[in-house]
Amino acid sequence: MDKFLIKGGTPLRGEVSISGAKNAVLPIMAATLLTADPCVIRRVPQLSDVRFMGEILASLGAAVKLDGNTLTVRADNVKGLGDYELIRQMRGSVCILGPLLARSGAAVVSLPGGCVIGARPIDLHLKGLEALGAKVRIDGGYIHARAGKLKGADVFLGGRCGPTVLGTANVMMAATLADGVTLIESAACEPEVVDLACFLNAMGAKIEGAGSPTLTVTGVKRLHGAEHDVIPDRIEAATFAVAAAASRGEVVLRGARADHMRAVLDKLRDAGVSIERSGQDLRISRRGRLKAVDITTLPYAGFPTDAQAQMMVLMTLTPGISVITERIFESRFMHVSELARLGADIAIEGPSAIVKGGRPLSGAKVMASDLRASAALVIAGLAARGETEVSRVYHIDRGYEKIDDKLRGLGARIQRLKVKPALKKAEPEAAEG
Ligand code: EPZ
Repeated sequence: MDKFLIKGGTPLRGEVSISGAKNAVLPIMAATLLTADPCVIRRVPQLSDVRFMGEILASLGAAVKLDGNTLTVRADNVKGLGDYELIRQMRGSVCILGPLLARSGAAVVSLPGGCVIGARPIDLHLKGLEALGAKVRIDGGYIHARAGKLKGADVFLGGRCGPTVLGTANVMMAATLADGVTLIESAACEPEVVDLACFLNAMGAKIEGAGSPTLTVTGVKRLHGAEHDVIPDRIEAATFAVAAAASRGEVVLRGARADHMRAVLDKLRDAGVSIERSGQDLRISRRGRLKAVDITTLPYAGFPTDAQAQMMVLMTLTPGISVITERIFESRFMHVSELARLGADIAIEGPSAIVKGGRPLSGAKVMASDLRASAALVIAGLAARGETEVSRVYHIDRGYEKIDDKLRGLGARIQRLKVKPALKKAEPEAAEG
């Protein structure tokens, strides 16, 4: 188990290349189960979640090869039951359910438990698959789903917090091989859903309306292999943009898609961060004082919940009061108590955090609790005076490709240190995803 040792106070300078998007590549990997032909996916980030998903596909019978950032999958004989322990440990794996059901008519997948950021039920996933004719029952911690031939249907996928990203992915993938037309209303519009639809259409699917709340999928008899380049990770790009501003630096984000990051860039501009676009690159710099801004997380194209923690750090460094409201996950403020160790002044009132900013942060020992909270603690360590030690960085390796190498490339004083495992092996936690 590694930890990071960070010496703060160095402005980040230089260029960083943005990797492929974790939240696009995971459902795209699941989609390879829909065909017996080989699929080649490029710009795949080297993340523990990707390795996990690869092991899950292999446990289902697929041949999986990751060569650098290029992944080849051939799922020519698929069995409907995957490795319980593997699947239980990564929530994102729930999106194998739709493809398995569509491809082999049966699927037994472990129920993803809740995670530190929220209860995260999958009722909408199951409602959508049942609308396509699947018989679903939960038994012994497993989802048992069975269907002769799925049938196209009208499905409304809106939930208490709006659309569901992986729920839309699951139902969209299942509908590609169903008889007839499926209409998904209140579909998620995230760029990762659009990227998945692009890959599926390259496999021969007929999907229209990706990126809008209404998706139409006309079922086809068979899908074939395809090649695909994964979109850049807008949350990784947002994380580096905030790190540049928090460290009073100047950084060029190579290959960032500004059109996928409008809500984040808009808030950074409002706060006084300078953002220049040149082609596929974004130059982020901060010269003067920042201004406190309020943030409410919303489904896409609103402000992403996955950038909330990082933005909170910037507001702790900014004189004034900012109110940050989390509308997507009910307990996504795990980073607040750790930021308080670094001297931040944040009070939680229901779904909102009231940040009294402007007080300089000072280094301390802090512990990561989830993927985005750990990214926020790293940014705080870069901006703080003195030394910060961030433990449990396995959380960050789930979603950021070689983040410490990239930060060192920008001049950060960050070290990755190996921590001898404690004598008693700790039970692995269910990872959010
Ligand atoms: C995806 O999770 C992302 N994960 C999450 O990123 C991201 O935070 C989330 O979308 C929202 O943008 C991946 O793509 C692998 P949801 P997902 O279903 O699809 C409720 C990260 O940091 N809901 O859109 O699981 C749910 O509880 C991760 O990279 C139901 O009530 O999220 C939540 O409150 C964390 N019933 C809301 O909807 C359902 O059946 C949105 O969840 C499904 C969801």
